[in-house]
Amino acid sequence: MTFPDFGLSADERREAVLGHYYERPGMDGERGEIWCYTDRISYAPGETVTLHVSSTAPRYALEVVRDGRTEAVVLREEGLAARWQDTPDQCSVLGCGWAASHAFRIPEDWPSGGYRVTLRAEGRDGAPIACHHLFIVRPVPGRRPGRILQVAATGSWTAYNTWGGSNHYQGITGPDRNQYAPTVSIERPFCRGFVVLPQDAPRIPLEVPVPPATPPRYPHMEWAYANGYSKKYASSGWASYDGHFFRWAERAGYAVDLASQHELHFRPEILDGYDCVVFIGHDEYWTWEMRDAIDEYVGRGGRAARFAANFMWQTRLEDEGRRQVCYKYRARAEDPLYGTGRQSRTTTSWEAPEVGRPGAATFGLNATRGLYVGWGGCAPRGVRGFPVYRPEHWAFAGTGLYYGDLLGAESHVFGYEVDGVDYVIRGGLPEPTGEGGAPDGLEILALGMSSLKEESADIPADDQFLSDADARFVAETLVGDQTPASVDKVKRGAGMIATFRRGGGEVFHAGSCEWVAGLLRRDPMVERVTANVLDRYLGR
Ligand SMILES: [Fe+2]
Repeated sequence: MTFPDFGLSADERREAVLGHYYERPGMDGERGEIWCYTDRISYAPGETVTLHVSSTAPRYALEVVRDGRTEAVVLREEGLAARWQDTPDQCSVLGCGWAASHAFRIPEDWPSGGYRVTLRAEGRDGAPIACHHLFIVRPVPGRRPGRILQVAATGSWTAYNTWGGSNHYQGITGPDRNQYAPTVSIERPFCRGFVVLPQDAPRIPLEVPVPPATPPRYPHMEWAYANGYSKKYASSGWASYDGHFFRWAERAGYAVDLASQHELHFRPEILDGYDCVVFIGHDEYWTWEMRDAIDEYVGRGGRAARFAANFMWQTRLEDEGRRQVCYKYRARAEDPLYGTGRQSRTTTSWEAPEVGRPGAATFGLNATRGLYVGWGGCAPRGVRGFPVYRPEHWAFAGTGLYYGDLLGAESHVFGYEVDGVDYVIRGGLPEPTGEGGAPDGLEILALGMSSLKEESADIPADDQFLSDADARFVAETLVGDQTPASVDKVKRGAGMIATFRRGGGEVFHAGSCEWVAGLLRRDPMVERVTANVLDRYLGR
């Protein structure tokens, strides 16, 4: 088995990984285009969804599907009017500002969940054109015994959305139009691949054994480039992460409600009705208020199950949640709150001293003590499952796992970003050192190695994608400088399964983005552990 090349030349492959390409109005040229977004991420039953559409076609058809146990068409409308609408150059930052095109009311009987919007129209050449969006119907507050509340990682969706040219990673902002945007808007379409994906779209962790002394390849970005999808389709979104859990859980017989992270921020009382709240996939961007909501929920006796990783950045919300702010690597230089009386809200790593609220205090593990595995020059031949240290724990009941086994290696659940804490191994068992804010009583059940730095032995410096940028940032943030000695201190990480109790509640954290791959690929042991956690937390 070798790396697929998707028909790309070496130069095209390089552009696929290191270049900046993104969805923008006019990108499909003569064929024509249709794009849309909704005015909000989530709605309660009875509220009105406003669609903002820009299209080269004068008419389009609308279809809304609830994407759960089955794909149920809940709304279909034909012959709706559209027009081409002007889009500001900095739409990723400011929002597209398109006029409202259509609106519909959510009936009271639409169950909570993810609702996929598809618009279809005719291109200028007569061939079909289409676009996809997704909105969340949230539950109404109230007691919901026996039901799970899944909180979609919408902060990451917003951060990674490439539509319009700027996100929290790359961008067309700044004087030379080459900077990532510290502020991004939700008032723009989702990039291609966030809502629906073909089954053969590669996930990020490498499925190909890497030959000796080989520079890394990035099948997901190469596939994206070759097939017209977003460079970030595999990093975030409903199609790669949240949707897989939602569908799996409904099919496995669980009753699941869906909320966005905006609910944690603006309507935390929504948590009160649930015995179990779940987080999935690549869950990287949170506000202070969102963490307060979960900390208080667990303190009151709630149970939080996090099958997710990369709890990294503090964000702020502006304009009632329409804009997300995260200065990240530039926070100390540019975030206006840094160095002020409100500097704990600086939009940087949770572990930065100016913030002083390690992620581990909420979910047991930190991003800065974990990070990359299974791609680039970061453990490309690393373990594909969680090495198990405490097989006797209730979470592993019925799996038949032994000490030293790998959980989920067949389905590749370990990667591509993982969360951990500083630890020692004593008597063959890992224990948290307590450094980095690990909560009292944190028990580490499984642990695999990861890396924060792309070691470059076989990679020309110009070809590094991950490089040492994150390691230098973490060294600067945690140690105070970027010297080689400081980088060396922080560069070795681990991904963990860990659990702890706080107040009357409990947290279970399988700290890997790819846990959901085990559910998607129907790995019986990963399904069993997931069910063990959900059943216990639901009191089944
Ligand atoms: Fe990430």
